[in-house]
Amino acid sequence: MEKLIINGGNNLYGHVDISGAKNAAVAIIPGAIMASKGVCVIDNIPDIEDVRCLERILESLGCKLKKNNDTVNIDSSDIESTNACVEEVRKMRASYYLIGALLGRFKEARVELPGGCPIGVRPIDQHIKGFEALGAKVKIEHGAVIVKADRLIGTKIFFDVVSVGATINVMLAAILAEGTTTLENVAKEPHVVDVANFLNSMGANIRGAGTDVIRIFGVKELKGCNYSVIPDQIEAGTYMIATAACGGEVTIKNIIPKHLESISAKLVETGVEVISDGDSVTVKSSGKLKGVNIKTLPYPGFPTDIQQPMTTLLSIAKGRSIINESIWENRFKHADELKKMGASVKVEGRTAIIDGVDKLTGAVVKATDLRAGAAMIIAGLIGEGTTEIVGVEHIDRGYPHIEEKFKKLGASITRSTI
Ligand code: EPZ
Repeated sequence: MEKLIINGGNNLYGHVDISGAKNAAVAIIPGAIMASKGVCVIDNIPDIEDVRCLERILESLGCKLKKNNDTVNIDSSDIESTNACVEEVRKMRASYYLIGALLGRFKEARVELPGGCPIGVRPIDQHIKGFEALGAKVKIEHGAVIVKADRLIGTKIFFDVVSVGATINVMLAAILAEGTTTLENVAKEPHVVDVANFLNSMGANIRGAGTDVIRIFGVKELKGCNYSVIPDQIEAGTYMIATAACGGEVTIKNIIPKHLESISAKLVETGVEVISDGDSVTVKSSGKLKGVNIKTLPYPGFPTDIQQPMTTLLSIAKGRSIINESIWENRFKHADELKKMGASVKVEGRTAIIDGVDKLTGAVVKATDLRAGAAMIIAGLIGEGTTEIVGVEHIDRGYPHIEEKFKKLGASITRSTI
C-alpha cells in the first residue's frame, strides 16, 4: 500500500509531456486479438496499471507480447483460448472489449464481468443488444458473459444511449461479420476514432467514426499493423486544470488541441489564459479564478472524466459554481474528501453546488476512484500545509508517472509506503 504526500502552495512552471490515451489503449490492446496473422506494433502506450493488466490477460489467452518502453508488440496468431476468466478481468472496466474482439474473431467468448471505477451502475445492456443483433446468443452465468454465434451478420443497430464502450465493442464484433453493419447514435470521443483508425490499419473497413453513424463493411480477416495511440485528452486536461488552480505557466505538450476545446473554453471562463499552438497548449494563471457552471456531456461536450479535477479548481474559485453530472449517477465521492480540506461542496443527486472558499488546507484524504485521485492531488497542490492521499492504486490505473510529472513542474510531491 502506498500514499502520496504533497506540500501545497507551489505555483507550477515548465512543460509536461502527455502520454498515450488510456481509454484508446485499453480498447486497442484487446483489438489486437483480432489479427489472425502478423504482429501489431503499437506505440505511445501509456505506462499505467490498466494497460499492464490487459497485457497479462492477453498473455493468459495465448498472445505473445514484447514490451519496449512505450511500444508493445502483440502477436495473436496462435491464440489458444477464448476464455478470459482470470482475476485481472474483474479488476478493470475495459476488459469488456475482450467480448467483442473474441466474438468477432472466434464467434465465441467467455469473459468475466468487468470491474472498474465505482462511479455508479455500469450496465452493458447496449453491448449485449449489439452482439445479439449481429446474431450472437448471450448469457450471463457465474459472473461471466458467455457469447456464441454460428454466423455474425451485419445489420442496423440504434443505441438507446450514447456509450463509448458499446460503440467500440459492437464495432469490434462487426468487423468480420458478413455484410454491412450500421451503428447509429454512437459515441464520438477521440478514442472511438482512434480505435477505428487502428482497426482500419489492420484491414478493417470502418467508416464514419467521429460522427453519429458508423458503417462497418465486413472483411475476411485482420492482420498485424504499426500504430501510434493518440495523446490522452484527460491527462492533458488534468495538467491544464492543475496549472489553472495552482497559478503559474505550463505548456502541455504532445496533445491534439481540438480534443481539449471544451476544457480550454471552460478554463478561459474561469479567468485563465489558454494558448493553443500546433501540438501543445499553454495555460497561464494568476490563481485568481471565477466560478462557472458545468454540465458533463458526451464528446464534444465537457468530459465527465474531467469533472472531478474541475470540482477541486472550482472549490477555490470566487462565487458559486454548479456542476451537473449527466453521465454517471455517483461521481461526486471526491466531494466528501474535498470537504475535509475546507471546501464547501453540497451534492444533491447528480448536481454539486460549490461555493468558492479562500483556501483549502492539507488533510489525510482518499482517492476513491481514478479521477477522484487526480482531484485530490490538485487539492493537495493548492492546499495549505501537507496532504496525504491514500488509495493511490486507483491513480496508478490511469495516470503515468504522475508524481514525477508534477515534480518537474515544481510541485512538492512524494510517494511512500504505508
Ligand atoms: C468510458 O466508460 C470510459 N472508460 C470512462 O472513463 C468514461 O467516463 C465514459 O466512457 C464516458 O466518457 C473507458 O473508456 C474504459 P459509457 P464506458 O458506456 O464505456 C450508460 C475514466 O475515468 N450505459 O460511455 O463504460 C452508462 O451507465 C473512465 O477513464 C448504459 O446505460 O461508459 C453511462 O450512464 C471512468 N448501457 C453512459 O451510458 C450500456 O450498455 C455512458 O457510459 C453502456 C452504458
